[in-house]
Amino acid sequence: MKCFKDGEFLAIEEVKLSVDDRGYVFGDGVYEVIKVYDGVLFTAQEHLERLIESAAKIRMVLPYTVEQLIEIAEQLVQQNNLTVGHIYLQVTRGVAPRAHQFPNEFVSPVVIGYTVENPRPFAQLEMGAAMKSVEDMRWLRCDIKSLNLLGNVLAKQEAVESNCQEALFVRDGLVREGSASNVFGIKDGVLHTHPANHFILNGITRRVVLQLASELSIPVKEKEFTLTEALEMDEFFFTSTNAEITPVVTIDRQLIGEGVPGPLTRKLQKAFDAQLPMLLAAGHADERNANGSAS
Ligand code: PDD
Repeated sequence: MKCFKDGEFLAIEEVKLSVDDRGYVFGDGVYEVIKVYDGVLFTAQEHLERLIESAAKIRMVLPYTVEQLIEIAEQLVQQNNLTVGHIYLQVTRGVAPRAHQFPNEFVSPVVIGYTVENPRPFAQLEMGAAMKSVEDMRWLRCDIKSLNLLGNVLAKQEAVESNCQEALFVRDGLVREGSASNVFGIKDGVLHTHPANHFILNGITRRVVLQLASELSIPVKEKEFTLTEALEMDEFFFTSTNAEITPVVTIDRQLIGEGVPGPLTRKLQKAFDAQLPMLLAAGHADERNANGSAS
């Protein structure tokens, strides 16, 4: 596998990282995950603009433009013959002896990238997932896609230990987002989701869903709701680059609606598939038809 590091494409064994890298020592950096369908990057421009924004929010300047980053990502896809999976890109503040304050201006950021092959989560997209609510103990800049993910890691582990696929962060009684996803509820035909502020990451998939909702004339309310309100939604789902639009059938073991993926969730999933590279969308549709569960 070829990895990108600081301007070069290297075999994974050739990549050398320092113990003094501030990403390793402090989690002092930012990252992105970009989906690849059929060898084509999906919403790469949006992801890479967010990478530059996240970097700026922690007072880091990336040594590459969006266009250069797209070129790097495309090279990674090509060199690794990736068809379906994702690109992981990470930028840290650089290498310097351990001291909390920023190193001097001559230290350059460390940029790495690699590909991961992984299929679309068809079974979960079809059957839905279970969520477990957890107290949101993270810092208050959840809008930054930072490498500091300890709060997310602990939440996800707690969910997994309860046989759930995703954690549902609740802060001050209000539902915020998943441990690695955004969340949406549907009540009486209206799509509800948390506003894009510092309590959540403004997911790229979230933005795609809001665009699809507008195209499908589904009314949207971007306003906080409580855990009790979440449990009373007719439908619920979470979104992320890899999870796409995953229906949620239970929260804290309580059924959402009938406890099966609902009709508006299916409609949004279908609209999502329709904008992916053609071959894959057709394959997914066939698979659903073969299961007799086309919506
Ligand atoms: N996580 N909220 C959080 C806390 C996330 O970590 C993510 C994504 C999202 C959804 O963002 P997007 O739709 O842009 O993927 C929301 C990534 C994929 C991860 O850490 O693996």
